[in-house]
Amino acid sequence: MFMFNLILFGPPGSGKGTQSDKLVEKYGLIHLSTGNLLREEIALKTPLGIEAKSFMDNGQLVPDEVVIGMVDSYFDKNKGAIGFLFDGFPRTVAQAKALDNLLELKKTEIAAVLALDVSEEELVKRLLNRGITSGRSDDINEEVIRKRFAVYSNETKPVAEHYKKLKKFQSIKGEGTVHDIFNAICGIMDKKLK
Ligand code: AP5
Ligand code: MG
Repeated sequence: MFMFNLILFGPPGSGKGTQSDKLVEKYGLIHLSTGNLLREEIALKTPLGIEAKSFMDNGQLVPDEVVIGMVDSYFDKNKGAIGFLFDGFPRTVAQAKALDNLLELKKTEIAAVLALDVSEEELVKRLLNRGITSGRSDDINEEVIRKRFAVYSNETKPVAEHYKKLKKFQSIKGEGTVHDIFNAICGIMDKKLK
């Protein structure tokens, strides 16, 4: 079966979640945000959620095996999807390799990786601002926000290299209005879907 799988890539606060909601509505992809799935587990106080919470509160990554297992079962729950939009996953090279393998088993692959490019100054502003209303424990404290950027640089940026080697990686400007950024992404999507 033909599937279209997109990765929205970028640092914390770059707009992955915001753009995902709009893309899912337009293209009918299944949104797979590991951050959202983990926050649901925390809200339900499952063993997985309890394990994940301390990592998330400190701005650290949840261990790969926990996240990969969660993605695997989300795939099983969404058999027949026309494609997935990955948001906040993969975040390590090990996760990227696990995803490649999972998709290969389904006889599909990643069509494109789109990275939202936003300055650190703007990111901090956005996250502190969201922290006022979101109730997200990792948005309230600037120290935890900076920690998330450091983790992104050290552990997640190498994922970009992985997809550059496969010639699937493309950066786009992530500053400006939500509407303009969405249109830029749709332009790229529509070309790929032709
Ligand atoms: P996760 O939930 O993935 O958070 P994140 O990557 O840190 O990113 P955010 O959700 O904060 O930002 P976003 O890019 O979605 O931006 P948004 O659209 O919300 O991860 C949280 C934690 O879970 C991790 O730290 C880790 O512990 C764990 N985790 C998750 N996935 C994992 C994985 N795969 N492996 C291991 N651990 C994992 O926008 C941000 C704000 O900006 C919003 O207020 C929005 O309204 C605003 N905004 C958006 N676009 C614009 C714009 N164009 N102009 C102005 N403001 C804008
Ligand atoms: Mg998000």
